[in-house]
Amino acid sequence: MRRKLAAGNWKMNGTSADLEQIEALAEAHAGALSEIMIATPDTLLHRASAFTKTGPITLGAQNCHHRESGAHTGDVSAEMLIDAGASYVILGHSERRADHDEHDEDVRSKARAALKAGLRVIICMGEELEEREADNTLDIIGGQLAGSIPDDVSGETLVIAYEPIWAIGTGKVPSIAQISEVHDFIRLRLEQRFGPQIARGIRLLYGGSVKPANAAEIFAVQNVDGALVGGASLKSADFGPIIEALD
Ligand code: G3P
Repeated sequence: MRRKLAAGNWKMNGTSADLEQIEALAEAHAGALSEIMIATPDTLLHRASAFTKTGPITLGAQNCHHRESGAHTGDVSAEMLIDAGASYVILGHSERRADHDEHDEDVRSKARAALKAGLRVIICMGEELEEREADNTLDIIGGQLAGSIPDDVSGETLVIAYEPIWAIGTGKVPSIAQISEVHDFIRLRLEQRFGPQIARGIRLLYGGSVKPANAAEIFAVQNVDGALVGGASLKSADFGPIIEALD
């Protein structure tokens, strides 16, 4: 049985004052059945870990370097993220693919480094609007799956987030049939590559304009095991109802 996951991606948002959002979530959802993960900026990880020692909340980062250490000014390794309190790292987010020219092979080598260090990875993938309109979505997702995911994964260590790029921060959400089609396709491809046992353990998240108002409908889709939430994860008043919809 896959444990549901409500994952928040704070992106480049949050300073010390926002730690109270994590504190509030930890208090309000101490008995949550789902796992709750918040990927803060690296600058907040260590202080945020004070609120995650007990209870359902875990912390994540939003990127890591593919090497363990060395002369890479401005970069952070997976081991450093663990040291700061992270258990997860989000990799391959479309904003990193666009802003930092990250390709599938970069995502794959970062994922290898993260897994080796002991992080769980959330690997993101999704299509552009033009690709959806040209009916190329499954080809794009199939390519990203094949290229971004390393061979040595397990149901415990790998999470995949389907995030259509046109749905991120736009208020637009794919239809339930479209979400369902992509998630079923991902599960099938995972079964073909890793075998049914591993594939059945891998959690598949939907991301892109998830809000309290649409969460329950999305979570009812088979093969949706939770969400990767951007804007609505910044305030506990918004993220809380999403966690409740998942529970
Ligand atoms: O990684 C989460 C994300 O890209 C979705 O963002 O703001 O549309 O929930 P948002």
